Amino acid sequence: MKIVPLLLGFSAVLGTCLQTVYGAASPQEWKRLGESLQGRLHPAIPLSAPCFSVVNGRNVQRSESACREVQQGYTKPDFRFTAASARMNPQWETCMSTSEGCLLDSLNPNNSAAWAGRDCKQGSVPPYFIEVNDPRDVQKAFEFAKKTGTYLSIKASGHDYKGRSSMPGSLSLWTAKLRSMSYSKTFTPEGGNKAYAAVTIGAGAITEDIYKFADENNVTFIGGYAQTISASGGWVQGGGHSVLSPVYGLGVDRVLQFKIVTPDGEYRTANQFKNQDLYWALRGGGGGTFGVVLESTMSVEPAMSIRVASISVPSNTENAQRFLSLTINETYKWNQEGWGGHMTSVSLINVNPRLTLKEARESVKTITDFALANNGTSVVEDLPSWQAFFQKYVLSAQAVVGQPIILGTRLMPTELLKNDSGKNQVLNFIYTALTKYRTEPYIILGAPTLYNYTEGTTSVTPAWRTASFQLGGSVKYPWNSTVSDIKRIYREVTERVQLSRVIAPNSGAYTNEGDLYEPDHEKAFWGDNYPKLLKIKKKYDPEGLLDCWHCVGSRGPTDPRFSCYLTLL
Ligand SMILES: Cc1cc2nc3c(=O)[nH]c(=O)nc-3n(C[C@H](O)[C@H](O)[C@H](O)COP(=O)(O)OP(=O)(O)OC[C@H]3O[C@@H](n4cnc5c(N)ncnc54)[C@H](O)[C@@H]3O)c2cc1C
Ligand SMILES: *[C@@H]1O[C@H](CO)[C@@H](O)[C@H](O)[C@H]1NC(C)=O
Ligand SMILES: *[C@@H]1O[C@H](CO)[C@@H](O)[C@H](O)[C@H]1NC(C)=O
Ligand SMILES: *[C@@H]1O[C@H](CO)[C@@H](O)[C@H](O)[C@H]1NC(C)=O
Ligand SMILES: *[C@@H]1O[C@H](CO)[C@@H](O)[C@H](O)[C@H]1NC(C)=O
Ligand SMILES: *[C@@H]1O[C@H](CO)[C@@H](O)[C@H](O)[C@H]1NC(C)=O
Ligand SMILES: *[C@@H]1O[C@H](CO)[C@@H](O)[C@H](O)[C@H]1NC(C)=O
Ligand SMILES: *[C@@H]1O[C@H](CO)[C@@H](O)[C@H](O)[C@H]1NC(C)=O
Repeated sequence: MKIVPLLLGFSAVLGTCLQTVYGAASPQEWKRLGESLQGRLHPAIPLSAPCFSVVNGRNVQRSESACREVQQGYTKPDFRFTAASARMNPQWETCMSTSEGCLLDSLNPNNSAAWAGRDCKQGSVPPYFIEVNDPRDVQKAFEFAKKTGTYLSIKASGHDYKGRSSMPGSLSLWTAKLRSMSYSKTFTPEGGNKAYAAVTIGAGAITEDIYKFADENNVTFIGGYAQTISASGGWVQGGGHSVLSPVYGLGVDRVLQFKIVTPDGEYRTANQFKNQDLYWALRGGGGGTFGVVLESTMSVEPAMSIRVASISVPSNTENAQRFLSLTINETYKWNQEGWGGHMTSVSLINVNPRLTLKEARESVKTITDFALANNGTSVVEDLPSWQAFFQKYVLSAQAVVGQPIILGTRLMPTELLKNDSGKNQVLNFIYTALTKYRTEPYIILGAPTLYNYTEGTTSVTPAWRTASFQLGGSVKYPWNSTVSDIKRIYREVTERVQLSRVIAPNSGAYTNEGDLYEPDHEKAFWGDNYPKLLKIKKKYDPEGLLDCWHCVGSRGPTDPRFSCYLTLL
């Protein structure tokens, strides 16, 4: 594959910017592609470029006002969502292996040390993107890639923890503008005859909009714990957990139909009746692999009230040990009762759509009593809807974005919680994570513990079906960390996750939230489903036009597409 530095002939704004693109497309071919897309092909420079006076080696005029806008939005998910070149976890805007990038100081975006005397480099930000409007746009991109060897990548919200919506030198298919939503009480998948209450959402529609829309239609959408996740994108294609999943299933369990352009150029409907193999693969095989999804249809539940338990104690070692031993001891019972939620070493926010308020209070009484006796707080309440819960608890306390963060988790089998020796193994792992690795546990009750799953209908690792919860933790690191610091942190995360593999050797991990360096990742993310997924990948994408890190059928880490990922050894 040759690398062609390309002069952007068709861009008025960046007419003189030299960008590096993989592939052999001539400037004329780029120009023709741009013309055929009627202004929807754009060059991209990194989000923070306006703050710099040197961009990709060229002197430019710094823009005070545009820079201020970036500074103000730097850690806000809604701002990052609107920018084609932004990612929620900004290390994926950089080339980690060469330390080239264009970041601001996450803790103080006003800090001029980030740009003074520095060159803003393209990093892993794709130098071109297509603002996808319809299936034709995607078909043109596949044709172009096939003909010229240009690398492709797909980005919706840019939430990915593993950098799979970035790729240096690629043409990015940006689906964020496809934000349509519609509701039908009687949606019938094409070719079928059974009707479902369902919402059909464009590939760019984000959770906060979908929740509001569902609420307005008096139904409940089962989705993730953040405001700007694109539910039809990587979230559902990789699995999609919600704190309501214990009762209502994963995203993959609820999706009824996809509309997708596959790399062979066909615009297809994939459901239980049409392209069944593709439908199955899209239910867990991962984003960025089988084609570009334009929309999906997901079943919804009736409007419901929700019981919430929000309990915390002051953070100190003794409290953490006692809080954890109490909560891990209760988790098996909570699984049986339909609780979902997130827990740390000193807090939890759990929800339950099934118990009455009285039953809910009783169910968490041990923890409430402990918290109240130790200067903690406990609120157990009844909220009228998911939307009310989302507004009150998720928007106020969602994960930080705009700061480099590394996540690593594993699915913990219910079996482990059935006796004291298993519970102690879990607790010992968490204490080790806290003390040796200074990592807060991230305990997600999002496995579909009560959901009546029909065997074989999805391609996520079967470990999801026997799991009680997802266990791991995340580490943030400073914007200006050196390559060797970042490598050390990734190594520590991998080492820590390894300790959780040891206590659950036959389990697996969630592809969207697993270790970036998961050994034997095919088995961990897909288990026995992998060989069939690989066959389906080869059927719909025989030339490998789509590829991403640890994705089904990937060429692997040594391919130039992955040159910005760190090699840990
Ligand atoms: C703050 C935060 C909170 C999160 N909370 C949850 C949670 O509650 N539950 C949960 O399950 N996960 C959660 N996640 C993980 C989330 O599921 C993944 O980050 C997921 O990859 C996001 O999908 P996306 O399309 O929005 O992101 P992107 O980064 O845009 O894309 C992710 C992957 O999907 C591909 N992709 C995107 N759009 C398409 C498309 N239209 N067609 C084909 N491929 C596509 C991309 O190429 C990439 O490989 C969270 C992540 C963050 C950062
Ligand atoms: C950054 O500067 C802006 C405008 O000058 C100001 O409003 C904001 O509070 C500053 N932020 C920080 C973190 O200092
Ligand atoms: C909303 O849905 C609930 C649950 O199905 C139902 O009881 C209620 O009557 C509906 N409200 C309206 C205004 O339609
Ligand atoms: C653990 O939970 C069980 C019920 O789920 C309870 O009977 C037992 O007393 C608890 N053990 C501790 C140490 O709290
Ligand atoms: C609670 O806080 C008070 C005041 O800070 C302190 O005196 C007391 O020891 C604390 N009690 C416990 C159980 O932590
Ligand atoms: C506890 O359960 C595990 C299965 O998770 C089993 O292998 C082990 O023998 C059990 N231990 C005891 C002491 O019952
Ligand atoms: C699963 O099926 C059983 C038996 O039909 C039913 O009692 C139970 O409520 C179902 N569970 C869920 C979460 O729907
Ligand atoms: C990173 O930036 C911080 C804040 O500006 C500074 O204190 C620190 O010395 C820098 N570290 C490195 C490795 O440059």
